[in-house]
Amino acid sequence: MDYSKVSKELEDLVTETYKLWDHNRVGFQWRHYTWNHTKRVRAMGMELGRREGGDVKKLEIAGTLHDITKKYDGEILNDADGNRVTSEQGFWLNEKLKPARENIVTRLYDEYDLYDTVHHDSGAVITEKILVDYGFDADFVEAVRSIVFAHLKPINMTSEDFDILYKNIENQILYDADTMDPNVGYTGFFRNIHIHAHFAIQRSGKFELESYVQGLPRFVDSKDSFVENLLTNSAKDVAEKRQERSRSLVSQMNAELENMNINRKYGLLGVIEYFVSETADPDFAYQLNHLKTNRIPDLQKSIADTTLSQSDRNDAEVAVDRVISFTQDLENEYKGLM
Ligand SMILES: [Fe+2]
Ligand SMILES: [Fe+2]
Repeated sequence: MDYSKVSKELEDLVTETYKLWDHNRVGFQWRHYTWNHTKRVRAMGMELGRREGGDVKKLEIAGTLHDITKKYDGEILNDADGNRVTSEQGFWLNEKLKPARENIVTRLYDEYDLYDTVHHDSGAVITEKILVDYGFDADFVEAVRSIVFAHLKPINMTSEDFDILYKNIENQILYDADTMDPNVGYTGFFRNIHIHAHFAIQRSGKFELESYVQGLPRFVDSKDSFVENLLTNSAKDVAEKRQERSRSLVSQMNAELENMNINRKYGLLGVIEYFVSETADPDFAYQLNHLKTNRIPDLQKSIADTTLSQSDRNDAEVAVDRVISFTQDLENEYKGLM
């Protein structure tokens, strides 16, 4: 088997599958979110695999496939009293959204009647069928199926059940990567901005920069519990560093409020406003690339061209340095390196 060819084909299968639905926003997800998240979880899973001595190929394939049935998830179901409807294992249940078009994944989903399952479960079934078709050996298929299945952890599980589900280090690793990505670090911050701005605009027609920035330290603190509950030491180590970096980032942003004029143009406040300039379907990969290749060079050029007082020029220069450093860290998180 040509592994890298197959790996690319599986990636194409996932992106093709995500395009079979026409809806954009559901809950805390939007169209571009799922694929960007998938790429980050895969990269982080592979990096944690190197650090923990896990099987990186299994983590790569499982990372690609782990949310393959995620687009079936609609709004979270509530009962008559307004409480979340949960499965026996404590997972929140979603309304199911049917795809507008079909492919091999949706045909398998129908064939095995997976509509009553949660996406880690349906994803594991689809993963197994697809990998068998590609001719992977039975041990590899079972290992990857099990990683996908374990990427959500039942709320109340006995320690015996835990030991079975997370016996393989790869299962712990993908759980950690998938838990960390939406919550901890700049990737969590990026998601938070886009959730916050979307609902703020829906509610009141506008995004309030100042109050958003003032609320960020509390947002970061609220993620400490995620760090404690990670399963591998390597992930805890990454997550603690991410929390530390996020704390320093949000305190820089709060300090920037002292000089709104300069910092909305040259600083991190300007980056926030750039991020929320797209609220319908923000694309992490696109916005990151835009910061790197357009925004930062444009700001540097503008400092050189504009007549600024000496003190404004100094402030603008250190503001751009903060943006450069933020952008580098964001990119490293994207690559799974931090
Ligand atoms: Fe998932
Ligand atoms: Fe995920």
